[in-house]
Amino acid sequence: SQRVILDGDYGIDDALALLYLAGTSTVEILAVGSVHGNAGADQAADNALRVLGLTGIPDVPVAVGARQPLAQPVRLSSLVHGEDGLGGAVLPPARGRRVVSVSAAEQMVQMARAYPGECSILATGPFTNLALALLMEPELPHLIERVVLMGGAVAEPGNVTPSAEANIFCDPEAAAAVLSAPWPVTMVALDATMGTWLEVSDLDRIESTTTPAGKFVQASLSHYLDFHRKNYGRHSCPLHDPSAAVVLTHPSTATCVNTPVKVELRGEHTRGMTVVDRRGNAGPRQPGTPEVQVVVALNREQVVNKVLDTVLGPP
Ligand code: BDR
Ligand code: CA
Repeated sequence: SQRVILDGDYGIDDALALLYLAGTSTVEILAVGSVHGNAGADQAADNALRVLGLTGIPDVPVAVGARQPLAQPVRLSSLVHGEDGLGGAVLPPARGRRVVSVSAAEQMVQMARAYPGECSILATGPFTNLALALLMEPELPHLIERVVLMGGAVAEPGNVTPSAEANIFCDPEAAAAVLSAPWPVTMVALDATMGTWLEVSDLDRIESTTTPAGKFVQASLSHYLDFHRKNYGRHSCPLHDPSAAVVLTHPSTATCVNTPVKVELRGEHTRGMTVVDRRGNAGPRQPGTPEVQVVVALNREQVVNKVLDTVLGPP
């Protein structure tokens, strides 16, 4: 099975990604870390605990991570995910589950050392914890099998500013560190995740669910759908973080390009933009810049069906 460390800002779509992986028998969730982003890091950890409480898997350690980015003030996406990060969907406190006493970055390093070369990281929030872990353990890139992250945009516009995607924008310095470290990175960009909007039949399926996990998905998505209706004029929403989770479990759903990815840190209007080298062989590449596997398209049908089949049960 695939050993995975999850790191996220446990908002609505992060929660769905967590439910998907928890329900996937080929995946072993080693640990979960929280980070600022959709909600504060403490709230995000509490959300992860409650969502784990909906699953059958016991004893996954959850650690609180960075409460703020490396080099800018914290900015929470309460508008998109609600004040509590889960769109106001009420979940009981997870009985018997508590956060562990180490930070998410420390926990990541501990797990990487315990299973050298055997675990992947799925990062679905700002990348502050990953950047801190890289500073704490310089060997980390060689201890991790692969990092799959949701973030960035290539030809697709940003979703926070015209050029920046939220997970990068909320900590550009951390993203720059993660995308230039010598570990295999798969970046599931907005170009791919904006192709995973739910169709009417998917929404009907969610509407008719009766399980506790299904009811939670229904309640939290209703806030997310509202946000997208107001801001995108569509009665639907895309599945950003669950798409990254499916890329981890089923890489064949993804269309990729390999390229170095630079994060713009100084642009007046472009801070947090991901700069991708699409010149083919036309220009020389800076030596020593690792290539990132950038997912630019996904098989929508496969991605959505895998998530819904796993979380809601077969149709
Ligand atoms: C990303 O930003 C957050 O709001 C979502 O959870 C996702 O990780 C999409 O840009
Ligand atoms: Ca997220």
